Amino acid sequence: MADALKQNEAKPLEDLEHWEEFLKTRYPEPQPAMATVGGEPEGAFHPKRDKKKFRDYRAEARPSVKEFYRLNHTNQTLDFVLEKKRQFLPRNKRKMGIWEAMEYLNTLVDDSDPDTDLSQIEHLLQTAEAIRADGHPRWMILTGLIHDLGKILCLWGEPQWAVVGDTFPVGCGYSDKVVFPEFFVYNLDYQVPGLQTSCGVYQESCGLDKVHLSWGHDEYMYHVTGEYLPEPAQYMIRYHSFYAAHREGAYDHLMNDHDREMFEWVRKFNPYDLYSKGAEKPNVEALRPFYEELIAEYFPPIMRW
Ligand SMILES: [Fe+2]
Ligand SMILES: [Fe+2]
Repeated sequence: MADALKQNEAKPLEDLEHWEEFLKTRYPEPQPAMATVGGEPEGAFHPKRDKKKFRDYRAEARPSVKEFYRLNHTNQTLDFVLEKKRQFLPRNKRKMGIWEAMEYLNTLVDDSDPDTDLSQIEHLLQTAEAIRADGHPRWMILTGLIHDLGKILCLWGEPQWAVVGDTFPVGCGYSDKVVFPEFFVYNLDYQVPGLQTSCGVYQESCGLDKVHLSWGHDEYMYHVTGEYLPEPAQYMIRYHSFYAAHREGAYDHLMNDHDREMFEWVRKFNPYDLYSKGAEKPNVEALRPFYEELIAEYFPPIMRW
């Protein structure tokens, strides 16, 4: 593991967006973009309906992305996740409103090109605006706006592999539907037989709320927003990076029927997350009044982070 951490210092993602760009090479945007058929975005994927197309994502991945996944799969043990929950779920790091958190996230700078790349706030607004343009409910527009705010974990010194990346259950056997499954052999939990059965520490059909997912911005933000948003929004936030489940149909044995019903919303949300980030800059100041009003409709002015 020490070796893994050393290599992380040598070759981090130059830009957090490179993970999301890689997701788009694995799950290319259907054409025409964002068209709706029967109220469902055309990009919405359903594992039972859509045939899986094999793509050699290994060949398409940047070395830094591959290294990022190696670190993620190596270090996201059940103990690590439990420790991060003890550290962050009391939410005593900071008190701020949603818009303030957006501005705080905007201070996150990486090695990307400031002239061509959009700011974090611009990305958040693009997702929200794409959902708004398709006439979805106000809570879903708001979900698009806030779903990635948990990336502020980076500002508190958390490594990239503990903030972004595809999420997966810890404490049970790994599915080969998780991207780069070969890296799981480096995870200490891989040596613990009790954590490698298909259900591991969980019961079959126990429901995903009983399951610990690898730690990152999704899980953290799900706890920050708590009960303020309707349940489909909570599902969108907690599971939006759980690609093995919502795109590949894995881990069905841990789900209950309610999860399966709610995952339709996760799939509805995913195309907006993946494909709404265009080159066009949204006008932040012009949009701000609409979003400030929407935020106030659901959230208190100050929240615990
Ligand atoms: Fe995200
Ligand atoms: Fe996102």
